[in-house]
Amino acid sequence: MLTLDYHPTGRHFLQIPGPSPVPDRILRAMSLPTIDHRGPEFGELGLRVLKAMQAIFQTRHPVIIYPASGTGAWEAALCNVLSPGDNVLMYETGHFASLWNKLATRLGLKTEFLGLPGIEGWRRGVQAHLIEERLAADTQHAIKAVCVVHNETSTGVTSNIAAVRKAIDAAKHPALLLVDSISGLASADYRHDEWGADVTIAGSQKGLMLPPGISFNALSPKSIAASKTAKLPKAFWAWDEILEMNKTGYFPYTPNTNLLYGLAEACDMLMAPEHGGLPAVFARHQRWGEGGRAGVRAWGLEIQCAEPAVYSPVLTGVMMPDGVDADAVRKVIYERFDCSLGTGLGKVKGKMFRIGHLGDSNDLTLIAALAACEMGLKLSGVKLAGSGVQAAMDYFASHRAAMPLRMAA
Ligand SMILES: Cc1ncc(COP(=O)(O)O)c(C=O)c1O
Repeated sequence: MLTLDYHPTGRHFLQIPGPSPVPDRILRAMSLPTIDHRGPEFGELGLRVLKAMQAIFQTRHPVIIYPASGTGAWEAALCNVLSPGDNVLMYETGHFASLWNKLATRLGLKTEFLGLPGIEGWRRGVQAHLIEERLAADTQHAIKAVCVVHNETSTGVTSNIAAVRKAIDAAKHPALLLVDSISGLASADYRHDEWGADVTIAGSQKGLMLPPGISFNALSPKSIAASKTAKLPKAFWAWDEILEMNKTGYFPYTPNTNLLYGLAEACDMLMAPEHGGLPAVFARHQRWGEGGRAGVRAWGLEIQCAEPAVYSPVLTGVMMPDGVDADAVRKVIYERFDCSLGTGLGKVKGKMFRIGHLGDSNDLTLIAALAACEMGLKLSGVKLAGSGVQAAMDYFASHRAAMPLRMAA
C-alpha cells in the first residue's frame, strides 16, 4: 500500500487517461482555507465557477455541479429527464458506454444497446447512420433518449457528436441527446449548444486537470422542460432545487469547496485569452496525440482506434501482439519506471494498454512515458520494429506547438 513516507525520487508518471496530473497552480489554489459554504464569499465563488463552466461546455444554458464522480452525473442525467420503463437508445463504443448502459438498466429503463458486432465497435466511433435508421423505424417515438459517449476512454476513440445530432434531426425524432464527455471536455473540442446536446455529462479528473470528486450536467431548455414531468425517483440529483439555489451561487448540499477553488483556477488556465483559450487547449492535445501515435506506429504495434478521423486527442490505446499480456507489460513499466498506464477494460482486458496525454503534461512528459513503454515492452520480450521514442522526438521537434509551451498553462 502507498504510504505517505514512500515517495520515489522525481515525479510519478501518471499517464493514465484520468485522473490526470494536476498542475501545481491548481494544487496551490485548492490549499486555500475551506470557507463557510453559506457565508458571503462562497456565493461569489459559486457564481464564478458556474459561469466559467458554461464557457467550457460552450453553452448559454445552466450547468449543474455535483460533489460526485462521473458515475453520479451519469445517473443524474438519466433520472432527471426519464421515467420508469422509458426506452433509451444507447450506443456501444466501449467499456464506459457499457457501464452507462448497465446503470440505465438498473434504474429501470429499457435500453437498446446499438453498435457494430464484436470488437469492431470498440475500434470505431459512433456510427450515426445506425442511430438514424433505428430512430426512423421508431415511428411511434417510443425512444425517449439517445445516449452516446463522446470520448470513449476505454479505447481512445472520439466520436462525432454533431453527426449524431444530425442523425436524430434527419429521422425527425424528438428523442433527447445525452452525451458523456467525461474524458473529452476541456481536452477535445466539445460544443454543447452548437451540437444540440440536451445533457452533457463531465467529470473533474480529466481535461479539467483536477482531482476526482466533482462532476457536471450541462442542460438545454428541452432537458429542463423534460425534467419537470420525468418520474424516475430523484432527490439528491434533482436539478430543480439546485438550479434555484445556484442563482445566487449556493448549493442545496455541502459543495466541494476546495475542489471549486481548483475549478476556478483550472477555468482561468484553460480559457486565458493570452494563452490562446480553448482552441489552444484542443490543439495541444491533438499534437500530443499525433506524437504519441507516431511512437506506437514506429514500434510496429497497432493503435486500438482503427479510424483515423476519430483518433482521441486524450489517450492512445496500444494493442499487444497475440500472446502478450498487456497487464504484465504495464506491471513491468510501473515497477521498473514508476509510470502508470491505463489498463485494458472489459472486452479488451489484457489485450491493450492506454497512454493518457492530458492534464499537466508537455512534450517531454509524453516522450518519457513512451520511453517507459519502450523499455517495458522490450523487457517483456515484445519485438519492436523501431524506436517509438525517436519517432515521437522527431515528430515534436519538427512540429512546433502553435502556442509556446511556456504560455500553455
Ligand atoms: C467516458 C467515461 N465515462 C464515465 C466514467 C465514470 O466516471 P467516474 O469513474 O468518475 O465515476 C469514466 C471514468 O473514467 C469515463 O472515462
